[in-house]
Amino acid sequence: MWTSPRFFTVLAAFLFCFSTIDAVIVKQENSLFGPYEAGVGHLMYWDLTGSSQLAETSIRLTPDEPGKQGAIWNNYPMISNDWEFHMQFHIHGKGVHLNGNGMAFWYARDPLQAGPVFGSRDYFSGLAIFIDTVEDPASPHDHKHPYLSAVVNNGSFPYHHDEQGTAGQIGGCHLQARNLEWPAKVAISYISDVLTVFLDSYGTDAWVQCFRAVGVHLPTGYYFGVSAATGEYSDNHDVVSVTTLDNLLPEKVWEDRTHLIPSADFVEIPFAPPKETVEDATTATPTSWKLIYIGGIGTILYVAFSMYKKRKLQRRERLKK
Ligand SMILES: *[C@@H]1O[C@H](CO)[C@@H](O)[C@H](O)[C@H]1NC(C)=O
Repeated sequence: MWTSPRFFTVLAAFLFCFSTIDAVIVKQENSLFGPYEAGVGHLMYWDLTGSSQLAETSIRLTPDEPGKQGAIWNNYPMISNDWEFHMQFHIHGKGVHLNGNGMAFWYARDPLQAGPVFGSRDYFSGLAIFIDTVEDPASPHDHKHPYLSAVVNNGSFPYHHDEQGTAGQIGGCHLQARNLEWPAKVAISYISDVLTVFLDSYGTDAWVQCFRAVGVHLPTGYYFGVSAATGEYSDNHDVVSVTTLDNLLPEKVWEDRTHLIPSADFVEIPFAPPKETVEDATTATPTSWKLIYIGGIGTILYVAFSMYKKRKLQRRERLKK
């Protein structure tokens, strides 16, 4: 069984080794375990969208067919300040080098919204961790695929497909995650504003750090989600299980961060400038007319004010006499 008790024992031991945590609580409302009821369209605390379907041991977000997108979204917000999200997943398909597109983990404000970013909406607010599996020889980066990258967005930046998710990246690494005989594991740890991603690609419970980013500010009350998409090429994208942990730190008081705007102090690769908007004559004309209009009003107001001042002066002089 993939979700063996051994997995959790090792997990807990690992957590205690690496941090000064008082207690670790599994958040049932934010977790997901098999066996699932194949063919059922919903789960307790999670919603399935798009091509997502339950199988007995996993949730298939997309089948190995082109042009599919699917997601699962937790409908219970995450209210902890310090949490860990552990996921077992499986990306596999017939293609040897022609496969895609990948999947994304979300901690986002707006769940359930389908879109162009691995099956989810663009201009998202929150944290995204992309696993891009497309091997593109024309890529502007020399990193190997699959490639994992983390991006924090406050809703103002678009995702650039040509940059393959690295615009706005706060950390990333290559990961072994395709056509493995066992599910790959990723652990996303968010403790005291430090985001650390660990990987276990070999099924040996030997966690390897992918990256660590300090100064990551995320609100409470956002939603966990996992989405996947296929394009011209495809893969099966399966989620096997999700375990979310609430890390209770000693002497730390829970903080309501509902209204915090997501931000990161250090961005490795800046966000690409917004997509260029071509300004032609038809859009330029109203702008210049507006300027003339504003200029006109300004002149009228100035003239009126001068006249008023002049009259006031004249009145004062009349009174003096
Ligand atoms: C979003 O982030 C950008 C860049 O960090 C910043 O300039 C902008 O003010 C932020 N927007 C909001 C609403 O915080």
